[in-house]
Amino acid sequence: MSNNPHFLVMPYPILGHMNPLLQFSHVLIKYGCRITFLISEYIQKRVKIPSDDDAGSSKIDFVALPDGLDPEDDRSDQPKVILSMRNTMPPKLHKLIEDINNGLDFENKISCILVSKNIGWALEVGNNLGIKGAFLWPASATSLASYYSIQTLIDQGIIDSQTGLPIRRQEFQLLPNSPMMDTANLPWCSLGKNFFHHMAEDTQTMKSFGGWWLCNTTCDLEPGALEISSQFLPIGPLMEATDDSNNKSSSFWQEDTTCLEWLDQQQPQSVVYVSFGSLAVMESNQFKELALALDLIDKPFLWVVRTGSNGNNAYPDEFEGSKGKIVGWCPQKKVMNHPAIACFVSHCGWNSTVEGVCGGVPFLCWPHFSDQFVNKAYICDFWKVGLEVERDHESGLVSRGEIKKKVEELVGNEEIKARSVKLKEVTLNNLVEGGRSSKNLDKFINWTKDY
Ligand code: UDX
Repeated sequence: MSNNPHFLVMPYPILGHMNPLLQFSHVLIKYGCRITFLISEYIQKRVKIPSDDDAGSSKIDFVALPDGLDPEDDRSDQPKVILSMRNTMPPKLHKLIEDINNGLDFENKISCILVSKNIGWALEVGNNLGIKGAFLWPASATSLASYYSIQTLIDQGIIDSQTGLPIRRQEFQLLPNSPMMDTANLPWCSLGKNFFHHMAEDTQTMKSFGGWWLCNTTCDLEPGALEISSQFLPIGPLMEATDDSNNKSSSFWQEDTTCLEWLDQQQPQSVVYVSFGSLAVMESNQFKELALALDLIDKPFLWVVRTGSNGNNAYPDEFEGSKGKIVGWCPQKKVMNHPAIACFVSHCGWNSTVEGVCGGVPFLCWPHFSDQFVNKAYICDFWKVGLEVERDHESGLVSRGEIKKKVEELVGNEEIKARSVKLKEVTLNNLVEGGRSSKNLDKFINWTKDY
């Protein structure tokens, strides 16, 4: 077998999984590995495939398979997508790997399959072909530890075995050295019973077939979560492990880079950056309240408003927006590291959380679903680098007054700022030569070469 492993990289087809796996592919290329990157045909038709112009991407072979659904089917129904992929894709994946390998010399054949979550069955396909498997968890190690602990939580009477919902709502500590967790915030609770079943099954498959469980985290960020299994391997912060200084883009979505020039014209630490990731959808009255809050705050803002994410972009009539810049999608990592950014109003998706930490940026947390509540607990209670917005008890909305008040409190809090800068330094140290994540990356690459 070659000294340069060939990876088949297969993310579950949503952006929050595709981007971390693409970033990790670039890391693997730096180590001399070859990458075949598998996406669904549906996604292939809808995203920008990073081209030969994008540094590093030329070394990635993109391939596609159907996900088993019709083009008009609703892909936001995740249990439906997960089930369709699992029911229809294994034989197609098996054939694809055979076809690729048949055309290659022995030393260049696919030697490892790397997946994100929801598609553990792909490791079983690899196993049947004698190919190693590993997986890259696209969220926090703590959420991975929650899935890993499903059976324990059932045995301890904390969750119901059928629905995954808490038997009773309580605060508990899932892991040592971690923030307290509300049982209602276990990551599957907001996603429905079907999702829980799929994830419980998927985790079992991973336990059977996965080698390493790579986590985009560090030993300092989530010390307790990493103790749960010796299979967990922290290799973060992933987005900092790739050298993208010459990279036009390694994202699947078209980025509006004009915001970088706009940021260049703003005062240091003056801009409120607002983004809710790739999935969260804001109700239209909440969207209006946020727009009016941004008008009220005495600071410029950069706001990512994804097309279709706000009920057809219904800005309120009285919204001026004159202090800000609104984009459909931005190069977030670069934004995070721009000196003009003062704070990050975030849904607390894990990738955004780590990117904000690496930018040394204080957070105003506005979690929407799944693991985002636990990520918020790390930000506010464990690392103490952010504050949380509170909803009005009657309307259920976060009012414009609350948003303004919390932004002002956050940007005026020197202790939070100092802790954010320190956390950035500690986190990035994991990637310097001899740092713990660097060593773990070496360990992983050596494992893939070991036959
Ligand atoms: C999903 C889940 O929602 C989240 O809870 C889980 O932790 C990971 O998977 P998503 O909602 O997309 O992810 O959020 P997040 O994890 O923050 O990922 C968003 C990614 O999009 C980040 O890497 C961010 O840099 C990128 N992004 C966001 C851009 O590149 N440009 C933007 O304008 C906004």
